[in-house]
Amino acid sequence: MADIVSVRTLLREPDSYLGRSVVVNGFVRTRRDSKGGFSFMEINDGSTVKNIQAVIPAALPNYNEQVLKAGTGASVSVSGVVVASQGKGQSVEISAESLIIHGFADPDFPLQKKHHTLEFLRQITHLRPRTNVMGCVARVRSRLALGVHNFFQSRGFHYVHTPIITASDCEGAGQMFRVTTLKPGEVDFSQDFFGKMAHLTVSGQLEGECYATALGQIYTFGPTFRAENSHTSRHLSEFWMIEPEASFMDLAGNMKLAEDFIKHLVVCALDECSDEVNYFDEKIAPGLKARLSSIAISAFKSITYTEAVDILKKSGESFAYPVEWGSDLQSEHERYLTEKTFNGPVIVTDYPRNIKAFYMRQNDDGKTVRAMDVLVPGVGEIIGGSQREERADVLEARIREMGFRPEDYAWYLDLRKYGTVPHAGFGLGFERFIQYVTGLENIRDVIPFPRTPGNA
Ligand code: 4AD
Ligand code: MG
Repeated sequence: MADIVSVRTLLREPDSYLGRSVVVNGFVRTRRDSKGGFSFMEINDGSTVKNIQAVIPAALPNYNEQVLKAGTGASVSVSGVVVASQGKGQSVEISAESLIIHGFADPDFPLQKKHHTLEFLRQITHLRPRTNVMGCVARVRSRLALGVHNFFQSRGFHYVHTPIITASDCEGAGQMFRVTTLKPGEVDFSQDFFGKMAHLTVSGQLEGECYATALGQIYTFGPTFRAENSHTSRHLSEFWMIEPEASFMDLAGNMKLAEDFIKHLVVCALDECSDEVNYFDEKIAPGLKARLSSIAISAFKSITYTEAVDILKKSGESFAYPVEWGSDLQSEHERYLTEKTFNGPVIVTDYPRNIKAFYMRQNDDGKTVRAMDVLVPGVGEIIGGSQREERADVLEARIREMGFRPEDYAWYLDLRKYGTVPHAGFGLGFERFIQYVTGLENIRDVIPFPRTPGNA
């Protein structure tokens, strides 16, 4: 029996396969029939963006009945010998000895060999993984997910599975999807499934803090839900977030961790997804590879929010939203800082307390908190995080001041009552990071099945 081999493996070491019998399983990208008694089939098996060419002799017993009907999209197994290719563009090809067709594709298969726009592909999310661009995205996501685990596990962080259904609003922004079994019109939440109002989580941070104040260093990596009505190229209603949290860590340690983490993932993409990065560099975002390579070696800049506001005010740029100390930075401001001022990643710290969540540690100036946002070119905010308020009295006062009820956060306050520790953490939006390393402009193109307002 010949070995079943992936196209990726075959093309990585073509010389070691020369003369050997192999089986390749995959999908037909194109078929061309020559008059000389052969068909040429480009086969893609999803292991790499590259195809393998199979040369199929007309002498095969199923040639007229089947091979000539196997068009773009059909699924096949080809068996044959690996030979040096006569044609251009590939070093080896398969000289087929048999071809099994598992499923023909109807002629209306929408992914015929021509250029399709990303907008069009979004209308066929079930078939778009068969395109080069979405295949590359899927492989990068998969590799980088492992990269996330490798990074934290090698530093002694424990992976904690925080709940998806929760009764607390971490960010206090009220952007939550309700989870209920009440019928329309029923409003008594004590009769609801959980005996109170429950939601899909907007962040695993608060639960993560429980484990960080026990295990020391933890991270979460899971789906996150936000019911914000944002129709932008950077917002999803369902996205994946990685949230590390570490006891005995301050803001400076948090910034260092974020920088190391981003660089680790960038190197992981460059080293382990080189075919994919090359593809994006060539087809989607020229210069991407050089940009990523330079990020891996240069130190991130950091500035305070107050300094950022100064820079923006002096920029002479006419922004759609005015810049005033005390109001949140808009995407256009973030992009200006990271793209024009610093031309690279920049960490903005110490935001006004009134635009940030209740749990962030208050600075002595009474106006700002120990927050940090990491901004990167092309995307803007990719990480949000902070040192946490570990002083029970200050935290409780802040909860009241913001109009929340301390009873609702009793368990969170307990973490400060019983052996409080300085601690800090952040959240990286996985999709925003994938946008960053692929250069894809729309976040809907870096997640398999995007959920956005009006679209599930
Ligand atoms: O800044 P955010 O809201 O911070 C938190 O949720 C904190 N609890 C994190 C922490 O400190 N543990 O979100 C963190 C990141 C953002 O920087 C962004 O990358 C991503 O999550 N994000 C989104 N990504 C896609 N679609 C959305 N609607 C997003 N909202 C936030
Ligand atoms: Mg944020």
